[in-house]
Amino acid sequence: MKPASVSDYRELARRRLPKMFFEYIDGGSYAEVTLGRNTADLEAIALRQRVMRDMSTLDMSVEVFGQTMSFPVGLSPVGMAGMYARRGEVQAAKAAASAGVPFCLSTVGVCSVEEVAAAGMPPWFQLYMLKDRGYMAELLARAKAAGCPVLVFTVDLPLPGSRYRDIRSGFTGSSGLSGALNTAWQGVTHPEWLWDVWLRGRPHTLGCVQSAVTEGRKVTDFLSWISRNFDRTVTWADIEWVRKTWDGPIVIKGILDPEDAREAVKAGAQGLVVSNHGGRQLDGVRSSISALPAVVDAVGGELEIFMDGGVRSGLDVLKALALGARACFVGRPWAYALGAGGQPMVEKMLGTLRSELATAMILTGCNVARNADKTLLDVAP
Ligand SMILES: Cc1cc2nc3c(=O)[nH]c(=O)nc-3n(C[C@H](O)[C@H](O)[C@H](O)COP(=O)(O)O)c2cc1C
Repeated sequence: MKPASVSDYRELARRRLPKMFFEYIDGGSYAEVTLGRNTADLEAIALRQRVMRDMSTLDMSVEVFGQTMSFPVGLSPVGMAGMYARRGEVQAAKAAASAGVPFCLSTVGVCSVEEVAAAGMPPWFQLYMLKDRGYMAELLARAKAAGCPVLVFTVDLPLPGSRYRDIRSGFTGSSGLSGALNTAWQGVTHPEWLWDVWLRGRPHTLGCVQSAVTEGRKVTDFLSWISRNFDRTVTWADIEWVRKTWDGPIVIKGILDPEDAREAVKAGAQGLVVSNHGGRQLDGVRSSISALPAVVDAVGGELEIFMDGGVRSGLDVLKALALGARACFVGRPWAYALGAGGQPMVEKMLGTLRSELATAMILTGCNVARNADKTLLDVAP
């Protein structure tokens, strides 16, 4: 199948990846209510068609922290991408660089920040608050030394939400002989993945937190490590510590509530991501797109506002821009494309989002992406 849309990349990834990795990417927490809302609420927004306007020029670029994004889409941090394609974070970072958009490396990526940075453009670096502040300071110093321009500090995961699909597939909680046999069976029944990732994609460790986490352990054991080492005591005061340790822009990821957005401003953040972690944490919370307008009303103009969650097309990107986001990020779309066929597929997927956004801009009469506003939307009947 030649992929035409994000759902096609999803289908290709489903065929190519062992079930446990596909389900890990695809799933959400609990009954996946929020996961569903993220896409459904975007779908429900109507764009406003305008005709007979001179659309001979189109400017899709946006400036963020002194960096030009060729169009307003970045790659959200996604853990363990090196298990979806050989040295997956490097392949995705190269795809993002060739598209002229930022790639954000997860704390729990397979490739280290040094490995990704060495492959081209240094990534944005995502960090979780860990109990061991000395180790965190060391990680921040590594990210700085690797040239990472932006720190994305994820605040919506003081503990991991339960993901039923991961339990059912054996991704979490399975051990002993039956766990090993299950993993082996999933590998041998996906020979392309076995050859590309399992045999040629080693080492399968978590590059940035390797010494803390994976010594002598399976890479999939990281969820239990999160439970033990992620810090639930964190408050806004701790951002002060991060500020002192990191002198570049800080983006707080995982804001849904306008009051939290105000706290992020007070804490001195330069940006925030309106996000519910792709429906993978607190199931039942509202969709990211429905949370965006109130956050923009509360703190718009005081810091950069991004959103992620449920963006599956360039049309969705324009809806988010119209509601006040500077740019969108996508998580699953790039993870699916990576699993479907590595860097070339991620490039193709980004090309699709870009051309869909161009079409949406032309048909709504929007020449300049950074000028997008609510007038591009039809008021619901
Ligand atoms: C497989 C997977 C792993 C993720 N790992 C991380 C992570 O390590 N750090 C983080 O801040 N967010 C992580 N996220 C959340 C994404 O950064 C992003 O918020 C979410 O995927 C956006 O929703 P979307 O997948 O609908 O685009 C992960 C998401 C997925 C699907």
